[in-house]
Amino acid sequence: MKVLHAAAEVFPLVKTGGLADVLGALPEALIAAGADVRLVLPGLPAILKGMNALQVVCDLGAVFGAGRVTLRLGQMAHNQVAAYVIDAPYLYQRPGNPYLMPNGHEWPDNLQRFALLGWVAAHLAAGELDLDWTPDVLHAHDWHAALACAYVACHPASRAATVYTIHNLAYQGLFTQDDFHLLGLPSRLMVPVGLEFHGQLSFMKAGLKYADRITTVSPNYAREIATEPFGCGLDGVIRARGTDVSGILNGVDGAVWNPATDRLIAAPYSILALDGKALCKTALQQELGLTVEASAPLFSVVSRLTSQKGLDLLIDALPSLLGVAESGGAQLVVLGNGDPALEAAFVDAAAVHPGCVAVRLAYDEALAHRIMAGADAILVPSRFEPCGLTQLYALRYGTVPVVRQVGGLADTVVDATHAALLDDQATGFMFGPATPVALADALQNAISAYRRPDLWRQIMARGMAQNFSWDLAATHYMALYRDVVQEVSPALDVKTSL
Ligand code: ADP
Ligand code: GLC
Repeated sequence: MKVLHAAAEVFPLVKTGGLADVLGALPEALIAAGADVRLVLPGLPAILKGMNALQVVCDLGAVFGAGRVTLRLGQMAHNQVAAYVIDAPYLYQRPGNPYLMPNGHEWPDNLQRFALLGWVAAHLAAGELDLDWTPDVLHAHDWHAALACAYVACHPASRAATVYTIHNLAYQGLFTQDDFHLLGLPSRLMVPVGLEFHGQLSFMKAGLKYADRITTVSPNYAREIATEPFGCGLDGVIRARGTDVSGILNGVDGAVWNPATDRLIAAPYSILALDGKALCKTALQQELGLTVEASAPLFSVVSRLTSQKGLDLLIDALPSLLGVAESGGAQLVVLGNGDPALEAAFVDAAAVHPGCVAVRLAYDEALAHRIMAGADAILVPSRFEPCGLTQLYALRYGTVPVVRQVGGLADTVVDATHAALLDDQATGFMFGPATPVALADALQNAISAYRRPDLWRQIMARGMAQNFSWDLAATHYMALYRDVVQEVSPALDVKTSL
């Protein structure tokens, strides 16, 4: 089974969120499951730098406004997985965030930049660019690579089956429809049953309408996006795809996130030897200028600061977290950046509660590890959450998740209700309504449990014993690939023999 993954990010080279973590781990798990896997990536500076043994596959000439586009093939230096890199300096030779200019606005030529990614992926899938390797499955991720599915669908000789994974339906890749002609696609696609979305051109719809199969990153989110409240205007399109849409839960990369081997944390620890976790907490409190106190429940946030993540609820619930007398001594660390209003609110909270609240407005991978290890609990109060990876990492680190009952959070955390505790199932705390009051209740439940060390240790240990492995996800993807290849190939045999 030859599989080509097309994506804009891959950990550790370029990362803005969980998408990169998935591309950093899933290919190796698929290789372990027997697949022959390659990636196709935009030639962003960090990606070109992170490759070994890059060889020219072919020159593509001048496409999508770039004067010189060269397709190269090499191995990613950190894991030796093969990747094609689209070397197009005019479009990609820009440091920093892959989507945004330094001023935070989108690059004005994102249409061309990500159309090129989809276009190259589709031509690779058609066997036109690398005569030595043609994938059976083209697996495109998020809107950045979605157009590949439309190019494949419009190419009668293309034999690859297409799978499209939605990591986040809220980011759709919308552009003015005046630019449709730049894509080189037939004009019959620019209609409401095609790529048009309320007068705009939608890259997301290229995946939703033209991929042979659609997946998203948790079973619960797969159900949610077929409903109006979570469908971002596309729930009808998703419902229309029926059983072509499924959810496959993300995993945890144990080579990166494992408290027993993590070299970024103050002391290693495991479920059988938890002393290191206490050392990690002390070290974290010292580093952040929090009062060094072993008995203070230390809550944490590691997140993009966007409305998706529901952190405005936390701002409103802060008095309850920090102020209630019997909860005395609770602490909070926030690592993240994004929405200026949220940033300012957390900075204010840190100023008002010195020693209790610490805020780092940054993207800091190493600090994220130290927080996972040193905190007692992690907060993920998202309004929607396709999968969520931080709660999975936290479970592994014995850091108890307090989450909203939504998306992948609901699939991965078991609320410490009376029944779940009796059944030995509880791994965290959950709340339903997206309100500060509901969050505050969950926080109070967590603090009460923390004050009962035996109970807390049980919840921690159960979380640490969970197995959210990429191997399991890879097994599901392999089954899906087999299924879709079988379905698509005979049909193509018929099509090409006509
Ligand atoms: P999303 O992809 O929606 O941002 P996920 O939970 O799937 O959410 O993945 C977020 C990833 O980004 C995790 O690996 C998390 O540790 C990381 N992350 C988020 N914010 C920061 C930050 N400020 N510093 C370091 N890592 C971060
Ligand atoms: C998206 C989602 C997140 C998911 C990640 C990886 O960024 O917001 O929930 O975990 O993709 O699939």
